[in-house]
Amino acid sequence: TGMPGSITERSFFAIKPDGLQRGLVGEVMSRFERKGWKLVGLKMLTPGRQLVERHYEEHADKDFFEKLLDYMCSGPVVAMVWEGHNVIAGGRKLLGATNPLEAGAGTIRGDLCTNAGRNLVHASDGPESARREIELWFSREETVQWGRATDP
Ligand code: TYD
Ligand code: MG
Repeated sequence: TGMPGSITERSFFAIKPDGLQRGLVGEVMSRFERKGWKLVGLKMLTPGRQLVERHYEEHADKDFFEKLLDYMCSGPVVAMVWEGHNVIAGGRKLLGATNPLEAGAGTIRGDLCTNAGRNLVHASDGPESARREIELWFSREETVQWGRATDP
């Protein structure tokens, strides 16, 4: 996205069902806003099995796959696209490691959860998956472009 040579990029995030169950939607979104990134896509849905299977297709042969699908389809999630400087790698940093025990203090997973199978938020892990996941979860019309007087 953006002008040629722009450092601005977009990434896909989802607050998983435990985030809604625990009332942490505002807390999570607030951390992204305070970081300086810009919300350009937002919706709430209980994802169907097919969508989650495609989302996590790289893990189809893992022993945790079925449990992961059950969990992700168990209730509403908040799907988001955030835009900004280094939001792909930076978003992963903000989340912390997959296993909350390894996630540092100050990270979302490090601060807010204890269980890898209930780790609150998903973030794309690179430019390729960001592109793929945004396209999977959002239609073109569902993301917006808007500017700030001064972009951080
Ligand atoms: P993965 O893509 O490895 O982690 P991340 O969410 O940090 O990109 O795994 C996807 C999800 O699968 C992870 O968020 C939680 C679940 N999972 C487990 O339940 N157990 C595990 O051992 C792993 C590696 C993942
Ligand atoms: Mg992943």
